[in-house]
Amino acid sequence: MTAAPAHAETNQHYDLDPEVFGQFLDPLRKYSSALYASPEQPLAEAQESKLRYVANHLGLRGGERILDIGCGWGSLILFMAKEFGTRALGVSPAPRQHEYIARRAAELGVTDLISTQVGHFEVMDLPARSFDAISMLGSIVHMPDLDAVFAKAKGLLRKGGRLYVSESCFRSDAVHAAFDRKAGTDFVREDIFGWGDMRPLSELVAGAERAGFSIVAVDDLTAHYYRTIEAWIANVAAAADKLDAHEPGLAAKLSHYLEVANAGWGYTTKHYALVCGNHR
Ligand SMILES: C[S@@+](CC[C@H](N)C(=O)[O-])C[C@H]1O[C@@H](n2cnc3c(N)ncnc32)[C@H](O)[C@@H]1O
Repeated sequence: MTAAPAHAETNQHYDLDPEVFGQFLDPLRKYSSALYASPEQPLAEAQESKLRYVANHLGLRGGERILDIGCGWGSLILFMAKEFGTRALGVSPAPRQHEYIARRAAELGVTDLISTQVGHFEVMDLPARSFDAISMLGSIVHMPDLDAVFAKAKGLLRKGGRLYVSESCFRSDAVHAAFDRKAGTDFVREDIFGWGDMRPLSELVAGAERAGFSIVAVDDLTAHYYRTIEAWIANVAAAADKLDAHEPGLAAKLSHYLEVANAGWGYTTKHYALVCGNHR
C-alpha cells in the first residue's frame, strides 16, 4: 500500500470569488450542514443553531482559545468571537477566504480576537497544547492521511480539551468500495473539489481512537444536511444569472453537484458529528 500524501489540492473550488458563495449560502457563508428545529426554519437561523450546537459540544463558556481547521469564510470563528469572546485561529489553504475573513472581522469589530493562517493544516507549524478546543466542519474529507490529522489535532489541544468533527461519510465500508468510483462521486471529487474521500464513520472513529482521543458523542445529522442542501439548491436557482456572470455554466454545475450530494443521503451517504475528548 502506498503512503497517503501529506495533503491534497482543493483550492479550485474554495478559492473561487467569495461572492459566488454569498449567492447561495446563508449570510454567514457557512458551507456545511445547518441544524433545523423544523423543516420550515430559515437557513440563516438553522446555521446559527448549528454554531451554538458546536459551541455546546466544545464546552465554550467564553474567552477560550480555539482552532478552526478548514475555516471557510469564517462563519465559525467570527460567530464564536462575537458570541463567546473566544480568541480564534482559522486555517485553510484558500487565500481568498482569508481576505474575506479579515474584512468581515473589521466590520464586526472583532479583529483583535481573530487570526488566520493560509496553508494546509497537515504541514502547518502550530504551538503544542495551545488550544482549548478544535473544530473541523467539512474539512477532514479533503485530508488524505487521517491518522496524521487526528494525531496532530490531539497534540495541539490542552488536556481536557475537545475536538469537534462533522463530516459526510459513506454509509459503510462496502458502500465506500462500491460507490467511490461512480460517475457522480467522481464528478463531485474531481470537477468540483479536486480531492475528497468520504470514509465511513468507523474509519473516523478508529482514527480518533488510534490518536488517543476518547469519543464523547456521535450525532446523525443526515436529515439536516439534506434540508440545508435543498435551501442551497433553491438559492442557486434564484441567483443563476449572477452565478453565470462569474463563470458561464456555473449555476448548472453547482446545481448538479448539490443534487448528486442530496440524492445519496441515507442510502449511500450519511453526515455525522463526532466529538472527541483529549482526556489523557
Ligand atoms: C466544506 S468547506 C467548510 C468550511 C467551513 N468549515 C464551514 O463550515 O463553512 C471545507 C474547508 O476546508 C478547507 N480545507 C481543505 N483542505 C484543507 C487542508 N488540508 N487544511 C486546512 N483546510 C483545508 C477548505 O479551504 C474549506 O475552507
